[in-house]
Amino acid sequence: MADTKREVFLEVKNLRITYETKQGKVKAAENVSFRIHRGEFIGLSGESGCGKTTTALSLMHLLPKEGKVEEGVILFKGENILDYDTKKVEALRWRDISMVFQGAMNALNPVHKAIDQMITALRIHEDVTEQEAKERSLELIKSVGIDPARATSYPHELSGGMKQRLMIALALVCHPSIIIADEPTTALDVMVQAQILDLFNQLRDRTNLSVLLITHDLSVLAETCDRIIIMYAGRIVETGRTDTIFTMPEHPYTKKLISSFPSILVDKEIDFIPGNPPDLINPPSGCRFNPRCDFAVDRCRQEVPPLECENGHCVACWRRHEF
Ligand SMILES: Nc1ncnc2c1ncn2[C@@H]1O[C@H](COP(=O)(O)OP(=O)(O)O)[C@@H](O)[C@H]1O
Ligand code: SF4
Ligand SMILES: [Mg+2]
Repeated sequence: MADTKREVFLEVKNLRITYETKQGKVKAAENVSFRIHRGEFIGLSGESGCGKTTTALSLMHLLPKEGKVEEGVILFKGENILDYDTKKVEALRWRDISMVFQGAMNALNPVHKAIDQMITALRIHEDVTEQEAKERSLELIKSVGIDPARATSYPHELSGGMKQRLMIALALVCHPSIIIADEPTTALDVMVQAQILDLFNQLRDRTNLSVLLITHDLSVLAETCDRIIIMYAGRIVETGRTDTIFTMPEHPYTKKLISSFPSILVDKEIDFIPGNPPDLINPPSGCRFNPRCDFAVDRCRQEVPPLECENGHCVACWRRHEF
């Protein structure tokens, strides 16, 4: 488990991100703040459309052109990377902060063999010979469960699951200090999923790798993460240690989310959350969860509940202590 006294590695403060659209501004992330320590494994969860990918993309200056960070800072080793120019960000990518994108399996360059893409990334960022780069790449390819004989295949010759695993290997090849993995295992079967998570864990033990693991699938986070962040409609609604979040969730949204995963609470009935997250062009006023919340009162519709922390367990709900 993470030692909270450990070095803070990445700190996000009051991030506010919007997308400009013809229909109006999408308020995709608001007041998003969190820290990642060295060697820590953090889970970011919430239903689809809650701002997880937006938050992740902003960490690497990868928002699409209609996306804008309106406010906030992203401190990496004490520097605000939002102030970095393209050259400085490119130097940071892969080597310091690496990312596996949502739907990454289509991101491999189709005209290059898989292993060549890894060798190129390594040689750009590190002073290694072709032979060393090849050996390291093959080693990683094996560790994501791919037969090294497939390393010289072109992306179109590989299955979707293999491409996804190769993207994970590519993201790890320069020994980054932090990996942001956005739904990295969603397309993979359970066995391969476990293998990838095990690889992240081994790297954490060996190299003090920090991981920001984003998934809507809470069961993936239960066994791997030190802490969990739950987002709803662009805001963080609850954060805490993994055991706290699973055994003593306090936000009504987190409670619903957890009870909708039968694999975690096996003796509970599946309880899907009725409705959908709101349109973020005109989100509900006050607590954005209020239209779906069984406990909403007038105050919830009028005032935004702040994220308040007690012993590292932070919750944004006006009625936190009432149930
Ligand atoms: N390029 C875009 N243009 C306009 N709106 C977007 C864009 N990308 C995402 N959004 C909106 O931003 C919100 C957050 O989306 P996203 O970060 O993808 O959520 P998640 O990863 O949690 O599913 C959603 O309302 C989504 O529709
Ligand atoms: S603030 Fe109100 S509407 Fe929001 S989760 Fe708490 S009780 Fe429900
Ligand atoms: Mg997403």
